Amino acid sequence: MAQHFEVSSNQGDEAWTPLQLIQKLQGTQGVFTTGGERIDAALLAACPDLKICANMAVGYNNFDLEAMTCAGVLATNAPEVLTETTADFGFALMMATARRLMEAEHFLRAGLWTRWRYDLFAGADIHGSTLGILGMGRIGQGIAKRGALGFGMKVIYHNRSRLDVATEIDCRASYVSKQELLKTADHLVLVLPYSPESHHAIGAPELAQMKPTATLVNIARGGIVDDCALALALRNKTIAAAGLDVFEGEPAVHPDLLRLPNVVLTPHIASATLPTRLAMANLAADNLIGFLKQGKALTPLNPEVLLKR
Ligand code: DGY
Repeated sequence: MAQHFEVSSNQGDEAWTPLQLIQKLQGTQGVFTTGGERIDAALLAACPDLKICANMAVGYNNFDLEAMTCAGVLATNAPEVLTETTADFGFALMMATARRLMEAEHFLRAGLWTRWRYDLFAGADIHGSTLGILGMGRIGQGIAKRGALGFGMKVIYHNRSRLDVATEIDCRASYVSKQELLKTADHLVLVLPYSPESHHAIGAPELAQMKPTATLVNIARGGIVDDCALALALRNKTIAAAGLDVFEGEPAVHPDLLRLPNVVLTPHIASATLPTRLAMANLAADNLIGFLKQGKALTPLNPEVLLKR
């Protein structure tokens, strides 16, 4: 970007307050965000020169899209380049959770392994089990294919809108109600976007409908799961285990989750491979360059802003 613009950057990766962010953005026309910076009406009003915010993330719940469109500020995200990497990770987290990988590793490292036992860290099978997916976008479809084609899983999904028949056949996935999904899945993976509607989509009432042997994986966004209710369900064993890559109020993690053995915790790394993170960064940079130099963007979220120019 330095070949095209005068760039100032947060190389120290400091956590800026909203006020600091406003101060840093004075006089700037474009901002490259990583998904944690809130871009809302207050910031837009205080940064009148801003024309584009390019998120290096597919999720954009840090953007108030309506306020950005009203202010004539283009929003872009970074879809597709991370789909397969994130689906890989969702699958890995599901397997680690079902097969109790972290618990077993900690046990071994702590020197507690004295002999082979028939029930030592006995977990749940992946192959032949029922995989439930809540949120069947590109990443959900990638996980469905891995489960159906690679592990012989029966795949069921629920989504705001049902997929077309060809895509369902391609993913070997059947559409069910949310209730059916909760009741039937052996392994439930959450891949839906965060919005006020999806806030606490999995809370105490939903957890109560799941099988006591079921596992839950969240690679979507914190806030989709009520972490407090989940910690209680894990403690009471109303579900068997969970794998979480995202948390309500992250980087803070609910203290009860930190204490529980039957939860695998990772720090929001589902898309973290070097090639994918580079592709995400390049896409965000290309959006900034394309828009500020030529009025074009590859992945606009509010294309009406482009049309108005
Ligand atoms: C995304 O792209 O939305 C990932 O969660 C990284 O923020």
